[in-house]
Amino acid sequence: MFAWSTPVALAAVLAVTLGQALRQQNETTKRELEEYIADKKAEINPRYRPHYHISPPVGWMNDPNGFSYYKEKFHLFYQFYPYDSVWGPMHWGHVSSSNLIDWEHLPTALIPETEMCFSGGAVVHGDDLVLLYTGRVTTDTDPFYNETQYLAFSNDGVNFRKYEGNPVLSYVPDNSADFRDPKIWKFKDHWYVVIGSSSNKRGRVLLYRSGDLFNWEFLSVLGESDGDMGYMWECPDLFELGGKTIFLWSPQGLEPKGDRYKNTYQTGYYIGELDYETFEFKTDKYFQELDYGHDFYATQTIQGDGKTYLIGWFNMWEVPHLEKEDGWAGTTTLVRELQLIGTRITMNPLEGIQDLRTDSVHNGDLEPQQAIEFGPTAEIILQGCLDQKIELLIQGKEGGLVTTVTWDPEVGKVIVNRSGEVRQVEWVPIGKTSWRLFLDASSLELFCGEGEVVFSSRIFSDGDWVVKNSSPQTLSVEAYRLRRSVPA
Ligand SMILES: *[C@@H]1O[C@H](CO)[C@@H](O)[C@H](O)[C@H]1NC(C)=O
Ligand SMILES: *[C@@H]1O[C@H](CO)[C@@H](O)[C@H](O)[C@H]1NC(C)=O
Ligand SMILES: *[C@@H]1O[C@H](CO)[C@@H](O)[C@H](O)[C@H]1NC(C)=O
Repeated sequence: MFAWSTPVALAAVLAVTLGQALRQQNETTKRELEEYIADKKAEINPRYRPHYHISPPVGWMNDPNGFSYYKEKFHLFYQFYPYDSVWGPMHWGHVSSSNLIDWEHLPTALIPETEMCFSGGAVVHGDDLVLLYTGRVTTDTDPFYNETQYLAFSNDGVNFRKYEGNPVLSYVPDNSADFRDPKIWKFKDHWYVVIGSSSNKRGRVLLYRSGDLFNWEFLSVLGESDGDMGYMWECPDLFELGGKTIFLWSPQGLEPKGDRYKNTYQTGYYIGELDYETFEFKTDKYFQELDYGHDFYATQTIQGDGKTYLIGWFNMWEVPHLEKEDGWAGTTTLVRELQLIGTRITMNPLEGIQDLRTDSVHNGDLEPQQAIEFGPTAEIILQGCLDQKIELLIQGKEGGLVTTVTWDPEVGKVIVNRSGEVRQVEWVPIGKTSWRLFLDASSLELFCGEGEVVFSSRIFSDGDWVVKNSSPQTLSVEAYRLRRSVPA
């Protein structure tokens, strides 16, 4: 390899290169945007605003992006349109945290210019936090867009400068216009990236590598739909977990099949092995959804200290976003820790999430028909006998949607029924049999057992939460109120 294959030498070369090649984003536009956000925030109706899930200060959020750790802080970005609570030209919103639980808003990181700033990833390189994102440019010919990959750099974790030479990666083997959502990582001397694409209406994912972040070489089609796995593959991710390689992505176009694939689009994974010599991903193509709730898409992961964390967009495309009339739309799930147990990825909230508990509201038996009253937030740990039905009825003190979470021993399924919209899956506990339920002002996350079955669903009710034991049996329940950990 070149003399600059050692990190120190590489950093020195880049500093010179980048000193000439980076462009500050328009300061006036940035200042006016932050003023707009500060003003507009005052108009937000807080009724559905999350207390401990990330949401945009105003306007629209979709995919989380660029989950990274830089200068002692976690950084998370997200697809952001500040000027309305519906999708529009994409910016990158930005939040940071030192513990993945308490988050603060930072100024908007990327502002669209000739390109809209679509999803992407982030890596730390030398002294810089580097964003690799999809620049989407409108064109005059069908399909009227062109997607290529752009770079932006920051040396303070707040201000990002775009590379003058963008795009850095525009080669798609079949010229598909769908070429988005780069996820970048480092292995030995190279940067690697997987990018979502589509060829002849079949979703696929492409693998590239680079020695310097600027020059990219196409390596392989890492995976492709055989026709049944959708027309477009978004948000691909590839990471090691439990000695295997996980290929996690969001396919679009899966046909509903029994209980499965009832949401507009899905997010799930294959387990396999990536061969860095042949650039082949070997897998038995057994697709498993990561989450069974109504609202879960476009995940981001980060690894460090032997841990793997994941966050997802806590919404779904092409469904009503009921908060949008309140001046904002979109939130993220709790950050979850992943483990591979057998052939299943488990998800669990971080240990530190216990710090959110303010006061205990119940600890002991909860009789049939007995209810617990909460504020806008709740954590409930419950244990029942699996030979009998377990059911909680979740509603607002002042009405709105009613949701039930149920264990039906007749069919061996966990069911989340949001006013008649049912999501369900078979559950065979792999260890403990308790449930852990988190309610925020407009969401429910249910972690069953060891986290082998998880549901994420947005739920909209009026007033504070009331949770009733609608089972025929007495349940053992620990319940807490939770504090705020994100800006109002
Ligand atoms: C920055 O944006 C402002 C307002 O949109 C515009 O008037 C100005 O010309 C821009 N500056 C540069 C250097 O492009
Ligand atoms: C998209 O634009 C780039 C130049 O930025 C070009 O190289 C590429 O061929 C275009 N892609 C398609 C599918 O037209
Ligand atoms: C879901 O709830 C609705 C009432 O909102 C009820 O009519 C329906 O039977 C429930 N479905 C299941 C499978 O529990």
